[in-house]
Amino acid sequence: MLGTLPDYPWDLIAPFAERARRHPDGIVDLSIGSPVDPTPENIRIALAEATDAHAYPTTVGTAELRESIVDWFARRRNVTLDVDSVLPTIGSKEMVAWLPFMLGLGAGDVVVQPSIAYPTYAIGAALAGADVVSADDPADWPDSTRLVWLNSPSNPDGRVLDVDALRAAVVRARELGAVIANDECYAELGWGKWADAPTPCILDPRVVGDDATGVVALYSLSKQSNLAGYRGAVIAGDRSVIDRLISVRKHAGLMVPAPLQHAMSVAFADDGHVAEQRERYRVRREKLLPALEGYGLRVDSSEAGLYLWATAGEDAWTTLGELADLGILAGPGPFYGDASPHHVRLSLTATDERIDAAVARLSAARAG
Ligand SMILES: Cc1ncc(COP(=O)(O)O)c(C=O)c1O
Repeated sequence: MLGTLPDYPWDLIAPFAERARRHPDGIVDLSIGSPVDPTPENIRIALAEATDAHAYPTTVGTAELRESIVDWFARRRNVTLDVDSVLPTIGSKEMVAWLPFMLGLGAGDVVVQPSIAYPTYAIGAALAGADVVSADDPADWPDSTRLVWLNSPSNPDGRVLDVDALRAAVVRARELGAVIANDECYAELGWGKWADAPTPCILDPRVVGDDATGVVALYSLSKQSNLAGYRGAVIAGDRSVIDRLISVRKHAGLMVPAPLQHAMSVAFADDGHVAEQRERYRVRREKLLPALEGYGLRVDSSEAGLYLWATAGEDAWTTLGELADLGILAGPGPFYGDASPHHVRLSLTATDERIDAAVARLSAARAG
């Protein structure tokens, strides 16, 4: 039965947005991770090429798309899959929200999520009527756990789980007989030590050996390819989990539109545009991070992904207000659970011009 859904929390920051908008040079909105750079031309052309879509698309995806995804996993994620182990989804948020339901979870079942988490994991548990437990240490995962969510690299705090941490999580999930899913949508956006070596995939043989039983990875094109408006993502891994999802999705009519399937094939096959986009974010990050530190915030984790996870050691809403007075809108840590009352999240998804404006304001405030 459908559990109670929380209010959509973004309304709570409306007064701060209002305050930030009063800045004479306008608001710098760093509260949301929605891409601002254009969708690459080759992907747009691919979409346009595929507009004759008279027939229904397949749920499992075209051969072209499935092969493109399999090749991407081999090339970028050190993971060998067959085409029956991958399934395209309509963005990854729908899969995050519906996976517990599609796996048949319900009352009395537990969905584990990280202690600091993207809110949709808990929404998914509520949609299925299951309970949610927030716990990072596998030893704390209860016996009734049926699904474990990991999110590495993480939103909001940019934490990356290394191979050992992923392996320990998989071992514990298997002990519990639970499915374990890593939401990896920031996988291509590693910084520092993760800039050259890819952030580890949960399906990497160093994590699962040669057996993906109970293990799935989610990946999205939204961020790496500035494709959030298209809605293109994938879930991959344990064949029996994928088979179950295919069956539910066929009956429910959940399929990726045909033109998008072609555009996704092109996006997954092209590493060049991803490197270019990563470079844009690297430049923005290298400007904003020291400006925040200079202003007096401490930036924690933030090893990968699109966010800087910062704290002034005070209540997050106070920091949010102070930043709003500089015309900068951040996201409050409490949106991501009780474990982060003192943090704010600042997104790198703003234009260079707006990032420069934020940097100038932070520096002037510090000097003043
Ligand atoms: C951790 C995480 N998972 C999933 C999503 C959903 O992405 P999309 O539905 O665009 O693939 C987001 C979007 O911000 C996210 O941060």
